[in-house]
Formats: sequence, C-alpha cells, structure tokens
Amino acid sequence: MSFVTVSNLWQRYGTRSILERVNVDIHEGEFISIVGASGCGKSTFLRMLLAQEQPYRGEIRIDGGTPAREPNLERGVVFQKYSVFPHLSVRDNLIAAESFNTPFGRLSRNARKAAGRRADDMLERIGLNHVAHQYPASLSGGMQQRLAIGQAMNAKPRILLLDEPFGALDPGTRLQMHDFLMELRDETNMTVFMVTHDLQEGFKLGDRVLVFDKPRWDPHDPGRYGATITYDFDARDGGIPFQMKEETDVSE
Ligand SMILES: Nc1ncnc2c1ncn2[C@@H]1O[C@H](COP(=O)(O)OP(=O)(O)OP(=O)(O)O)[C@@H](O)[C@H]1O
Ligand SMILES: [Mg+2]
Repeated sequence: MSFVTVSNLWQRYGTRSILERVNVDIHEGEFISIVGASGCGKSTFLRMLLAQEQPYRGEIRIDGGTPAREPNLERGVVFQKYSVFPHLSVRDNLIAAESFNTPFGRLSRNARKAAGRRADDMLERIGLNHVAHQYPASLSGGMQQRLAIGQAMNAKPRILLLDEPFGALDPGTRLQMHDFLMELRDETNMTVFMVTHDLQEGFKLGDRVLVFDKPRWDPHDPGRYGATITYDFDARDGGIPFQMKEETDVSE
C-alpha cells in the first residue's frame, strides 16, 4: 500500500512554473534518493512533503490521511543549510528536538532525564560527545551538520527529509554518516527522502532514485514549464540501468 501518495502536484512562484504533474507512490520504509539539476525544484518538493508550503495544485497524502497544512513531528528535516539552534549547547539541541512533542515544549523531570540519555547516545553515534557542552558556532561546518542530522533523527520521525545532508562533509565522515543513517533506518523503518548531487551516493543509499527534470522547455520563456519526475530507477540491486518511467503525458 502506498504510504506517501503524491498526486498531480504542481508548484508555481508568481508566473514561474517550478514543478508540474508530479505523481509518485512511496511505500513505508522506502529510501528515496532525489537527483536533478540545480534549481529544478528538489528543495521545493521537500518543502511540500514537509508541509512547509502548500502546492499550487494537487496534493500529498501520508498514510491515507488528509493533506497536512503545517509541519509536524511526523516529518523530520535536515536542510541544505545548517538548521541547529545557535543559543543551545550541542546536547541541549538534541533534547530540544524532542521537546517539541510535548505541550509548551516542556518535559517532565523523568522525561528530561530519559531525553538526556537518548541525547548522550546520539552524541556518541554522531561523534560529538567531546563537544556536548559547546555552542554550535564553535563547531566546524561538518560537525554542525552531524548535529542537525542527529537532531532530526532523535525525534524518530516517520518520514525523514534530507536536503543534501552530507554535502559539507569530508569523505571519511560522509561514509560514517552513511552507515549511521542506514543503521537508524533499519531500526526505525522510517521513510527517507534524500536530495543529493552525488549520483553514486543516491544509488548506494536509495531503494529508488527519482530524477527531476523538465520534460518540455520553452527557450523564449524558461519559467513557462516546470520539472517533474522523468525517471524512477530501482536501485535495490545496486546496479544501474533500469527501466524508464512510463512516458509522462505532457499534454495540457
Ligand atoms: N519562495 C520562493 N519564491 C520564489 N522562487 C523560489 C522560492 N523558492 C525557490 N524558488 C525558485 O524555485 C526554483 C527551484 O528552487 P529549489 O530550491 O527547489 O531548487 P533545487 O532543485 O533545490 O536546486 P539546488 O540543487 O540548487 O538546491 C529556483 O529557481 C528558485 O529560485
Ligand atoms: Mg535545493
């Protein structure tokens, strides 16, 4: 059964079409890699999955529910740019990510203790236990990104949205984060959408690789048509070529 159902989704900013006729069904627990040229609307698609913005046309349903009007803890996100709280220590950043769950963002003493233990466990896994009491500004870019990933994962979202999460990391750290992400995914069966510019990474981690591109193009008016999913590759066997998605009907 489809868990995330995207039906005839369009997005438009002013007179510019960004996305058009995006249709896709995702099963619970699938890892979806998203690739495509810069500016083609990948982050826009993630923002709509997060319900941070509403589509121009069409809808996204999660688990058959009504389309969400605003973000909630069911969906965790790591943005292209670091998104940690600058005024909280590294450890408190992890605890705060959980406290959004409770009314007024407050945790009881026991809940706070338990959150503290989970934060310590996460600090260990993301390799930041030695800087637990520092503020994000004192960390390197890669360390801040690891914190952002740990923060999103600590809330155990059913859907994790990752917008080029490993772009700023050195190759060794990147591989560590791959392993860490796959472990967490096996433990939680979360559904993951990850935008990446690294095809190899997309195929390594993804069960499917979706390619966003513009199926039609007006050279006199580049903003006239939007992008859509032009390929949907099965990446489970680790191999490359694959079936082409059925030709999208591009007639108005
Ligand atoms: N809030 C907005 N208002 C107007 N235009 C926007 C807005 N957000 C994005 N855009 C435009 O929509 C297009 C798609 O942007 P988006 O950030 O989704 O692309 P992307 O595929 O994520 O690119 P990149 O790979 O560079 O991150 C871009 O041309 C961008 O300038
Ligand atoms: Mg983007």
